[in-house]
Amino acid sequence: MILNEADKNLIQNSIRDVHDFPKEGIVFKDITTLLNNKEAFKTLMNHLEERYKSYNLDYICGIDSRGFIFGAALADRLGIGFVPVRKKGKLPSTTVCEKYELEYGYDEVEIHLDAFPKKKPNVLLIDDLIATGGTATAASKLIKKIDANLLEACFILNLTFLNGVKKVEEHTKVYAVLDI
Ligand code: PRP
Ligand code: MG
Repeated sequence: MILNEADKNLIQNSIRDVHDFPKEGIVFKDITTLLNNKEAFKTLMNHLEERYKSYNLDYICGIDSRGFIFGAALADRLGIGFVPVRKKGKLPSTTVCEKYELEYGYDEVEIHLDAFPKKKPNVLLIDDLIATGGTATAASKLIKKIDANLLEACFILNLTFLNGVKKVEEHTKVYAVLDI
């Protein structure tokens, strides 16, 4: 279940640093180069499948939008359902929503009120990256609001210098594949 150094390096080296995006001074972690690298993507998904196959999960919840990619792939590997947490205004049926703080202002995420057909399901939350932890905290609150057991939040990358994990750990356990 522990990722060996070679696999860790394969995944880490497949993620591209793009300087000055979306604005000057920011180094953007580009996962498109992980996704188009079949060895890196498969290695990552093997690791996640191995880690989570014994969790007795009922659903994977992925955060809009990059969390959908890993979340849907993992749900299929585990043979369970996938539930999207979406940015405000995208889900068509009745939703619950949660605000979170951005650098300037606020954003909101939503989940369908009836997202989990099973009562009191075991849920894993997944996203590509944790920075300040604001998005994942809001998503965690949503999952709990609709009466699910949130077992863990999983991230491919943790930007440790922003301390987001501490914030999310107030709501659930956290696992990050790579700390950078
Ligand atoms: C990025 C990233 C995480 C979130 C992390 O998503 O994919 O979801 O920010 O930031 P936080 O920990 O400070 O909340 P973004 O909102 O840029 O949207 P995207 O996934 O649609 O690209
Ligand atoms: Mg995102």
